Amino acid sequence: MYITLVICTCFVTVFSFPKGFISLVPIPSENFEFYDVLDTNKLFHLFWKFNETHITFELHAKTRGYIGFGLSPNGKMFPSDVVMGWVKNGNVHFADYHTTEHSAPVKDHSQDYTLLNGEENDFGTVLKFVRKLDTCDENDYRISDDTVRIIYAHSENDPNDENDLRWHGTESRGVKFMYLLNAVTKPDLSGNIITRDMTQTNVRLCFKDISKHF
Ligand SMILES: *[C@@H]1O[C@H](CO)[C@@H](O)[C@H](O)[C@H]1NC(C)=O
Repeated sequence: MYITLVICTCFVTVFSFPKGFISLVPIPSENFEFYDVLDTNKLFHLFWKFNETHITFELHAKTRGYIGFGLSPNGKMFPSDVVMGWVKNGNVHFADYHTTEHSAPVKDHSQDYTLLNGEENDFGTVLKFVRKLDTCDENDYRISDDTVRIIYAHSENDPNDENDLRWHGTESRGVKFMYLLNAVTKPDLSGNIITRDMTQTNVRLCFKDISKHF
């Protein structure tokens, strides 16, 4: 009786997933320091790590179509700094784009995101890529310790080619406010703290100034 029950449970678990998506949980390719789920349906999982100059992302999305991932100054779909990627017939397609309006993303002249890995697995599609925090490209978002709006999207289908990217033809998209680098600037308050006051005499305050900060 017990054995029958176990077997039944297994069958139900395996066959209740959409075909090909056997795994519910993404497995990162390495031990990333940071991880977050971007959407409530748990379709987009982001792993990342960074140092003083670079940030490495690994995005796992539950799709066999294409993925869009971007950094937005205002949380809107444009203007924003976007990468698009998909795996088709075992080949990975990936590039650095930006969005300017309500239409397909435009490929950046300067390609500043480097693909490290792209694959389809039991969970979905994985894209792993690295970029500089500040790429010095005006079409890229400068990553700082500020809040960043992560925008994401995926489509069930692969595009026919690179000119067939309809950011708005996607089945699933959203935005999440996040801190990517917050760990960097956390002041170290361990040990002894020494406080110094710096004072200045004869500072004239204008009528409107309530206080002055230097
Ligand atoms: C920071 O990360 C990048 C990308 O992984 C790497 O090329 C670079 O050497 C790293 N810098 C330091 C100081 O470790």
